[in-house]
Amino acid sequence: MKKYLVIGDPIEHSLSPKLHNFWIKENNIKATYDKKKLNKNEIKNLIIDVKNKKINGLNVTIPYKREIINYLDELSPEANKTQSVNTVFLDDNKIIGHNTDISGFEFAIKKLDFNVVDKEILIMGAGGVVSSIIFALNKMNVKKITVMNRTRGKAENLKNLFKDIIIIDWGEIPNCDMIINATSVGLKKNDKINLDFSKISKNKLFYDIIYNPVKTNFLKIGKNLGNKTENGKMMFIYQALAAFKIWHNIEPKINNNVIKLLEE
Ligand code: ATR
Repeated sequence: MKKYLVIGDPIEHSLSPKLHNFWIKENNIKATYDKKKLNKNEIKNLIIDVKNKKINGLNVTIPYKREIINYLDELSPEANKTQSVNTVFLDDNKIIGHNTDISGFEFAIKKLDFNVVDKEILIMGAGGVVSSIIFALNKMNVKKITVMNRTRGKAENLKNLFKDIIIIDWGEIPNCDMIINATSVGLKKNDKINLDFSKISKNKLFYDIIYNPVKTNFLKIGKNLGNKTENGKMMFIYQALAAFKIWHNIEPKINNNVIKLLEE
């Protein structure tokens, strides 16, 4: 029986086990996928378990996507460029870190009726997932990426990885073609981002990385202002799909049953 884990802190909210175990069952794979809350000082021993094949793969979430890099043998080019790892596997006795948040975001956007080529994008937040979003947007040939974060210094740090991004102060929201909420504001139902979005003209895209709740206040505001809105559900599903493919060499199906899993 193969064993997979998602690690993070907090981890209770993670729907990765639900999704992976559904696909594991559907594809008759002998494996289990669990979640584990971890302290930083426990990462080292966990990686030894991967090396010894006691654990066959890891997903990594907040706050360890960067921290885990210290314990790995090699990074994929995507993980290296973003300094962010969400998927770990053993290859030829080497522990490899990869980043499937990038393709998760890319596929999710490509499925939308919204073309990002040559568009101006504003990202709110500078946490763990933002480097993956920037990487994916650059790959999709957007024109301009602006980042604003409550703590400006954290946004400035992203310039070490992506020199072409523009950093602005948290506060006034300029017009743009797509605005992405990559902060954790909205995870609680009553959370509100108290900013003025009215400079964004109509028919633009409001995208929230959060998928639970399904419609954050940020998305409600976007809709009321006459824009398209989308939550992070498909990004989450596609990042999981890419990890599943790496570990099991099978492309799992995305259908209504899968999508419903995340809405229950
Ligand atoms: P981490 O910062 O540990 O990677 P994260 O959940 O990936 O954690 O990121 C949280 C993001 O939400 C950060 O950009 C954070 O801004 P700060 O860097 O200033 O902390 C942002 N965030 C959290 N609460 C916020 C709030 N009340 N208002 C604005 N931004 C907030």
